[in-house]
Amino acid sequence: MLLAIESSCDETSVAVVRGDTVLANVVASQIRLHAEYGGVVPELATREHLKNLPAVTRSALQQAGATPGDLTAIASTIGPGLPQALMIGSRAAQAMAFALDLPYYGIHHHEGHLYSPWISGRPPHAEWDHFEPNISLIVSGGHTLLVHVHRPLQHTVLGGTLDDAAGECFDKVAKLIGLAYPGGPVLDRLAEEGDPAAYDFPRPLKHKPDFEFSFSGLKTSVRYFLRDNPQILEDDACLKDLCASVRAAIVDVLVTKTLRAARRKRIRCITASGGVSCNVGLRRELKTRCDREGLQLRIADAGLCTDNAAMIGILADHRHRCGGAPTPLDAEVKPGWQLDAL
Ligand code: KG4
Ligand code: ZN
Repeated sequence: MLLAIESSCDETSVAVVRGDTVLANVVASQIRLHAEYGGVVPELATREHLKNLPAVTRSALQQAGATPGDLTAIASTIGPGLPQALMIGSRAAQAMAFALDLPYYGIHHHEGHLYSPWISGRPPHAEWDHFEPNISLIVSGGHTLLVHVHRPLQHTVLGGTLDDAAGECFDKVAKLIGLAYPGGPVLDRLAEEGDPAAYDFPRPLKHKPDFEFSFSGLKTSVRYFLRDNPQILEDDACLKDLCASVRAAIVDVLVTKTLRAARRKRIRCITASGGVSCNVGLRRELKTRCDREGLQLRIADAGLCTDNAAMIGILADHRHRCGGAPTPLDAEVKPGWQLDAL
């Protein structure tokens, strides 16, 4: 049994996995704490991780019906993320590994996201047997990445965002409209009732053949649009149309580039992960366009799309069983670790 800790941003999460099966995946979200400030406050996140980690760990062990003596390995997210937040989870994991004399695995947060779409079922388990080479879209508040995953533990990064991440764009536009933080999910709900063709917003870099993204210009164009049309915010129907139009622009760029990568690399499977992969519009558009092109699509359940320790545990356990070298117990956290540096 392996115990994994995820604490890279604003979720304190501990999972217990046995082989490919997730026995427990407890997540304590700090969203409400940070909402008051309109974004994640690193100092508060660190203190909250410190406060929550013992109870979340106890709860994960209890749900898994396990004791520390049952564990055979320990893992944590060691980067990228908020430095102090990473340190809380990783130092705790390293101390546990030391005390229990177990191997420790320091996992790349985004590598965890790459494999979360392969976890499914009740209880959730990693379907390594069904694994297909895929193009993986990681879309969260901090990152937008397009990755070619050749086989488990082997991938090539195709591109990323030049400025704002997709989730950041959703949240910033939501803030301009006056929605509560984090605005992405709220904007998504309102967009469901609006007309995506009502307003025409730019689709940055959509037609460029590379796999880079850029969302800051789209946010700015919404700002100018609202400056010139302030009455939109007074009308419920117009507001919903605005949300639908912005969402359509973001989703169109994400889906177009993801499918272009699949065509270019001759890949028949698409996966998506990260908080923004919960977006109803994105899921629907990916499904429609994948079906049209006969591509397989895999997106995890919402609880595994957002930050969680199960994806870290499943990956660490796979590495452990493949004979991957453990990480030294004194390894430092890597706040700026790039996925292509793995
Ligand atoms: O992966 P995640 O939980 O944390 C990191 O950023 O690493 O992603 C959080 C981001 C936030 O920006 C949030 O607004 C966005 O994912 N998000 C959504 C939706 N659900 C979460 N954005 C658009 N539509 C959603 N339904
Ligand atoms: Zn994440």
